[in-house]
Amino acid sequence: QKGGYPSFMAKEIHEQASAVADTLRGRMENGRLHLDEMKIDESVLRSIDKIVVVACGTAANAGSVVKYAIEHWCRIPVEVELAHEFRYRDPVVTEKTLVVAISQSGETMDTLMAVRHAQEQGAKVVAICNTRGSTIPREADAALYLHVGPEIAVASTKAYLGQIAACYLLGLYLAQVRGNLFPDEIGAIMADLEEIPAKVQDVLDASGQVEDLARQMREATSVLFLGRHVGYPTAMEGALKLKEIAYIHAEGFAAGELKHGPIALVEEGQPVFVIVPSPGGRDSLHSKVVSNIQEIRARGARTLVIAEEGDAAVEPYADVVIRVPATRALFAPLLTIIPLQIFACELATAKGLDVDQPRNLAKSVTVE
Ligand code: F6R
Repeated sequence: QKGGYPSFMAKEIHEQASAVADTLRGRMENGRLHLDEMKIDESVLRSIDKIVVVACGTAANAGSVVKYAIEHWCRIPVEVELAHEFRYRDPVVTEKTLVVAISQSGETMDTLMAVRHAQEQGAKVVAICNTRGSTIPREADAALYLHVGPEIAVASTKAYLGQIAACYLLGLYLAQVRGNLFPDEIGAIMADLEEIPAKVQDVLDASGQVEDLARQMREATSVLFLGRHVGYPTAMEGALKLKEIAYIHAEGFAAGELKHGPIALVEEGQPVFVIVPSPGGRDSLHSKVVSNIQEIRARGARTLVIAEEGDAAVEPYADVVIRVPATRALFAPLLTIIPLQIFACELATAKGLDVDQPRNLAKSVTVE
C-alpha cells in the first residue's frame, strides 16, 4: 500500500508531480479556462469586491500563498483568515464578498462553521476540497476539487500542492471573467503552471541531499524558517510540518521581521532554513533576503538555503544550498516547500517516530 516507501507521508510527497498535474488537467480549452464546477453566476463574480479565504492549518498556509497571486492578477483584496478566528469575530462580509473555503477533508468543523456564517451574511462560497461528497463542498455554492487522490498521512503534503494549484486556477478564472488579464496573458501563465509537475519531479529526484541533511540533524531541538513574499507562508508551512511530525520546536518568520525580534533567537549553530526568491523576480526582494542570510550567519546561524538553480549570490553565505528549478515567482511555493516536507518526513523517520500518525493529531478535525 505504501508503494515501497517507509510511510504514507513519504509516498504522498513523491506523488506530488502527478498530484499537481491531476489538479490542472483538462482546464484549458481553446485558450480559455473552464471550471465546470464554478456554479456561481459570472455576474456575481464580476461584482465581488473582496475575497476572504477561510481555512485551518496547512490549508490556511495554502491560502496565504495564493493571496499574492490573486491580488496581483485580479486586483481584488484577499484576506486569509483562520476559520476559527473568523467565525468568532464579527467579520465584514457582504453579498459582494467571495469566500474561499480550503479544506482537504471537507469536514473541518471550524471551516464548515465559517462557511455557514459567511452564507448567512449573503456571501457566496467556493470550496477548494479533495474529498468528494464531503460536507463543505456540499454546502458551498461551488466546489473545485483537487483530484490528488486520497491523502492518508495526517500531515498534509500533496493536498497542499493541489490546494495551491486549484486556487491559482480560481484566480486566473476570476481574472478571465472580470477582464483583469488578456487571454494571451492567461495562456502564458497557464503554460508556466503546466511546467510545474515536471519541475516538482526534478525536486523529488534530488531528494537525497535533503534526506542526508535530515538524518544528520535528527538531534536538533529548534529550527527556524525565514521567507519573504510567497516564501513567508512557505516558511510557516515548513515549520508546521517539522512540529507536527518530528516534535521539534520550529518557527516560521517573515524575513523582514528579523530585526523586530526573531534575530535575538539566533545563536551559534542555530539551524535556519531560508527560502530565497528568484533573482529574476522583483530584484530588491532577492537582495534583501541575501542580506538577511548574511545577517544571521554573522551571528552564528547554520544557514540552510533553498535557492533557484544558478543563483550564485547565495553561495558565500550558505552552509547548505538546496536547489530548485527556476519558475515564475508566484509559482515558486509549489517547489520550495518540497525540500521542507522531505526534511520533516525523513527527520521524523530517523527519530523512529510514527510519521503517519503523529501524537495528539487527527486527520480530520470534526470538533472545535
Ligand atoms: C497539517 C494538517 C492540518 C490540516 C488542517 C485542515 O499537516 O494536515 O493542519 O491542514 O487540520 O484540514 P482540512 O484541510 O482537512 O480542513
